[in-house]
Amino acid sequence: MRVQVGIIGAGPAGLFLAHLLHRAGIGAVVLESRSRHEVEETVRAGVLEHWVVELMQQLGLGERMLREGHVHDGITLQWNRARHHLDIAGLTGGKRIMVYPQQEVLKDLIAHRLAHGGEIIFEVGGTSIRGIDGDHPAIDFRRDGNGPAETIECDYVVGADGFHGPGRQTIPAARRSEYHKVYPFGWLGILARAPRSWHELIYTHQQDGFALLSTRSPELQRMYIQCDPNDDIANWSDGRIWEQFHARLGTDDGWSLTEGPIVQKGIIPLRSFVCEPMQFGRLYIAGDAAHIVPPTGAKGLNLAVADVVVLARALAERYRAGRVDLLERYSAVCLRRVWKAERFSWYMTTMLHRNENESDFEQRIHFADLDLVRTSRASAVSLAENYVGLPFD
Ligand code: FAD
Ligand code: PHB
Repeated sequence: MRVQVGIIGAGPAGLFLAHLLHRAGIGAVVLESRSRHEVEETVRAGVLEHWVVELMQQLGLGERMLREGHVHDGITLQWNRARHHLDIAGLTGGKRIMVYPQQEVLKDLIAHRLAHGGEIIFEVGGTSIRGIDGDHPAIDFRRDGNGPAETIECDYVVGADGFHGPGRQTIPAARRSEYHKVYPFGWLGILARAPRSWHELIYTHQQDGFALLSTRSPELQRMYIQCDPNDDIANWSDGRIWEQFHARLGTDDGWSLTEGPIVQKGIIPLRSFVCEPMQFGRLYIAGDAAHIVPPTGAKGLNLAVADVVVLARALAERYRAGRVDLLERYSAVCLRRVWKAERFSWYMTTMLHRNENESDFEQRIHFADLDLVRTSRASAVSLAENYVGLPFD
């Protein structure tokens, strides 16, 4: 098989890239190790930055999102049992975020690409990349996990294959630098069949630690609490989970949280990670393959899409005008946005979590940070601009 661009991974990075390349008249094939069902059912991120919402519409993918997603003008920050509404739209000249779950975005991207003749091969095994330092890179793989060996020959390979995929590992270790930060806490996330308790997302820092109230639909709520990243979910009965949500989300104004049956629960660790550069020869890496952020800033999915917007423009110029300068600058351009998202996600995470390794002094500084957002317009604007999505440089 021969194609202009071979993409590994049918997550947000790989699928948005396939759409953007198709729009530019560039041929691409997407290889995915999981089944379509698994890709479409895995619960992950929920918040789309304002420009991702516009991009979905430009790609002809906005219809269901506009019908089923929820536009939010702001978020609520809570500490010392009191709430502060951050008016994101008012602070950013009218920009708003959309709560529309990642798996719904992926369903729309997959259905539309397949309906328009695009090729996404699910359940591949043994994916490996070769020849990236020459002009004829290739991807070897097996259909259905262990079918006969096949090869895709291409001009460029894109590793949009998440943190554990082969993309990043194909860059020689001596030619990349990796920056890590592991946080001493994780998130216990639940899906609860309950009506919405509040009209927007609540991020709270209380004595027992962080909690986040988010939503999926009028009947289904997505909620998280800070926990030990090594804890076993079996230690968390539904009763204990609700008790912690009540303790952390409680206020002194008579509001109460609406409970309901918990239909899914799990624990994820929190970490920050960046790989530099995000390219080597004819291989480009994008999204979680190149960088991870803790989810407190809601940046993971959005950053993955930002990478492939830069990459698609560079590839379009390469095929349209024979220019390779944009491709050469891909990593440098992306990393400027990546490090700002890393900074923001780290800021939100440290400000909103209780870290037992920190001194009382440091813990009090976080409450001063929160109070600055309440009282200083400059601090509020900074948080709002980063949350809603920074402009492209
Ligand atoms: P991914 O979505 O990981 O997609 C990569 C794809 O590549 C996967 O489908 C994978 O199966 C495939 N792949 C891997 N190896 C191979 C191979 N060898 N061959 C073929 N295919 C391969 N962000 C938030 O903002 N909020 C959240 O609440 C949140 N929760 C998360 C929970 C979890 C458990 C995880 C892992 C991430 C979460 N994130 C969250 C982050 C966000 O979901 C990611 O940043 C986003 O999915 C990145 O998109 P991506 O396309 O780069 O990678
Ligand atoms: C979610 O709805 O899953 C969600 C929302 C905001 C975040 C992280 C996750 O910061």
